[in-house]
Amino acid sequence: MKFDMNEIIERANILVEALPYISAFTGKTIVIKYGGNAMNDPETVRTIMQDVAALKIVGVKPILVHGGGPEINGMLNRVHIEPQFSAGLRVTDEKTMEIVQMVLAGKINKNVVSLLNTLGVRAVGLCGKDANLIEVKKYVPESGADIGFVGEIVAVNDALLTALSDDYIPVISSIGTDKNGNSYNVNADTAAGAIGGAVKAEKLIFLTDIDGIRKKENDPKSLISRITVKEIEKMIASGAIGGGMIPKVRSCIDAIAKGIKSVQIVNGTIPHSILLELFTDSGVGTMVTA
Ligand code: ARG
Repeated sequence: MKFDMNEIIERANILVEALPYISAFTGKTIVIKYGGNAMNDPETVRTIMQDVAALKIVGVKPILVHGGGPEINGMLNRVHIEPQFSAGLRVTDEKTMEIVQMVLAGKINKNVVSLLNTLGVRAVGLCGKDANLIEVKKYVPESGADIGFVGEIVAVNDALLTALSDDYIPVISSIGTDKNGNSYNVNADTAAGAIGGAVKAEKLIFLTDIDGIRKKENDPKSLISRITVKEIEKMIASGAIGGGMIPKVRSCIDAIAKGIKSVQIVNGTIPHSILLELFTDSGVGTMVTA
């Protein structure tokens, strides 16, 4: 075998760069929100789960929160339920909620758990209904419209997570429960922030299909590596951050307000982006702090 000594030394340097981060994050909880296009391609999913397993193996306590991505729509199609929208929000009637729960808690959740379990760690699948983990009330938009079983989080009962996360990787579907045991669809970014706040997570990672926040919306080279909440608010006010990016950055701001030290937006479609973000100095995404 031919080998390049410089390349080998470079590899050692990468390991050395990782060491202070490994020791800083050992024993800490890191919540990872996973969803959207980062879950379409099996190879991508595999590298993401390898990273999550690696975190656990070096002593970090990862908690995974996932949404549905395009799979919910696919299944609604298969059972011939027409998606309904009211002022841009999905209307989740009883039949739709049934499918949402089947896809999230039955299919995606179990697939993620199985994959992690093949990677040298033990994962446990939950949704917000298990031990009343995510308690919600019905969400009513400002317009007052009835959009069905869409939940607004009122409490996170995290005792179960704290008990589990020493040894296991909790994998949580973003479904909530109300006092009467009804199921609700919950925004997965919001759920991840609320869970991170409840367990006093060190970090929250939003895995998405964009590299992070950009200085100029349409210029991929203008990625912002680090930003504070104040700076984000300025960018929203000036219109520099707009459109589809606003809910994402609002979720970051909310999570920081809940006491999470940093929220990192990372492109999940870049192989091993979690390891690169957490264990290198420069990271690959955008790091948001207070
Ligand atoms: N690895 C360090 C951490 O996770 C630094 C990450 C920096 N990331 C960035 N996008 N600037 O705390």
